[in-house]
Amino acid sequence: MNSTWGARVVYQIYPRSFKDSSGDGIGDLNGITEKLDYLKDLGIGALWLSPIYCSPMHDFGYDISNYYDIDPIFGTLSDFDNLLRKAHDKDMKVLMDFVPNHTSFEHPWFKESRSSQNNHKRDWYIWKKPKKNGSAPNNWLSQFGGSAWKFDEKTEEYYLHTFDVSQPDLNWRNPHVVDEILNVMRYWLKRGVDGFRVDVAYYLYKDPFFRDEPYNPAYLPELNMQYDSLLHIYTLALPETLHMLKKFHSVINEFDDRFMVCEIYTFLQEIVNLYRIVDHQSFAPFNFSFLSLPWNAQEQKRFIDEFDEMIGDDFFPTYVLGNHDKPRIVTKLGEDAARTAALLQLTLRGIPFIYYGEELGMKNMDIPKEKMKDPMALNMKGFHFGRDPVRTPMQWDTTQYGGFSNVEPWLPIEKESAERNVASEEIDKESFLSLYKSILNLRKTRKSLTEGKYIPLECKNPHVLGFIRRGVDEETLILANFSEEIQGVELPTGDWKTILSTKLDVKNRKEQNRVNLRPFEGIVLCI
Ligand code: GLC
Repeated sequence: MNSTWGARVVYQIYPRSFKDSSGDGIGDLNGITEKLDYLKDLGIGALWLSPIYCSPMHDFGYDISNYYDIDPIFGTLSDFDNLLRKAHDKDMKVLMDFVPNHTSFEHPWFKESRSSQNNHKRDWYIWKKPKKNGSAPNNWLSQFGGSAWKFDEKTEEYYLHTFDVSQPDLNWRNPHVVDEILNVMRYWLKRGVDGFRVDVAYYLYKDPFFRDEPYNPAYLPELNMQYDSLLHIYTLALPETLHMLKKFHSVINEFDDRFMVCEIYTFLQEIVNLYRIVDHQSFAPFNFSFLSLPWNAQEQKRFIDEFDEMIGDDFFPTYVLGNHDKPRIVTKLGEDAARTAALLQLTLRGIPFIYYGEELGMKNMDIPKEKMKDPMALNMKGFHFGRDPVRTPMQWDTTQYGGFSNVEPWLPIEKESAERNVASEEIDKESFLSLYKSILNLRKTRKSLTEGKYIPLECKNPHVLGFIRRGVDEETLILANFSEEIQGVELPTGDWKTILSTKLDVKNRKEQNRVNLRPFEGIVLCI
């Protein structure tokens, strides 16, 4: 099993917010192409583009109305080909987002399906008669709040939408749907894309008997996530879904050196099972442990040790600090801890996924109510901020709109963009960007960081997480202080020197047998 993916760092671009080249306040493909040198220079090996297909944009592209074309907001197919060619010229791969669970309600398939109960595409989506009293067919809930069923006046049946009402779920039990979606994959793979990030990969198949889901006894109503009030035993991770993911992967594997990563929020054992089901290096489920576990050295260590051992050397772990749905890491942990989280993410064995702006230390931006756009926030009373705060425009320079656009952007730019932007951070030797560049540079020069085994270290200090990356003829030691106090750690035998600190003020410092880590400091050492 030979693949180039193990040494690549993936960078997620939310295209609406990366760079506007057309002057409409919304990012686009030519904007991304303009910035390829920046990404290459940073040390990025692959891009993942959130959806750019034709869409009415109710869920900003995750509601697709044509899988075979680019939305004019983002450009044209030839802009896409140009981006792909230029990225490949720089040895950067391109992953597309792939949304198989649902389409837009404006997709021609759904329009036909909706037109009459006898239409030949009726069964491409999930339609059910109301209960005798007219209510929804069962208690299934939408991730975006309320029932997952929407009554359609015209044909007097309900359709299923696990997300927004504008996103009807496809019926994966219909073989025509399967064929069509597999063809979509082949179409883009033939065009040259290097693979996919599969959206909500656990949702495809639903219980054929449409049974009510049981109440979740651990539900916390104060969190206002009504979806979590049920245990999703009839709508999530059915065996048929796992089988279909394996099938998706077999399509990927009809082509050379492609990759597929699946969006699945689940626990360790299931992540590991998924690797085993697909059993190939060109597949990985996302691992969101940094998002879900507390910032605590012991808990993180327990997870990482177990995860690395369970999946074994044949597969690539993934590590994620944020994405377009989750709070930004700096807002969650504070700057110093976020720098150390980045060090861990980029030095642990596996494939790191950087969310655009993470390398600048971008924060969540409070969006005034009247400017909110996220359908999730607008649908769910009490879920005040939604996902807009993490989707604000990339901060390129100190100009009015952060160098993102010449006109007012679709979402406001983060308040601190005057200090926190590419141009300013490029000249600041201690900035977030300088830290990312230094670590990514180390990944290029020290093979143990991309090819070495993960060797856990017993630090005898509960606040410090330590590990060694052991390559063929080189070792790299990483130590991370999770606490806000100074922490001392004994070093393993050897003449260690510190080659990088997250504070960026230490270089080639010879150590004795013990080091003191400053609050939230992470360091890299070699012999
Ligand atoms: C995924 C996407 C999210 C989207 C949802 C529905 O979770 O990451 O942004 O709203 O799927 O497609």
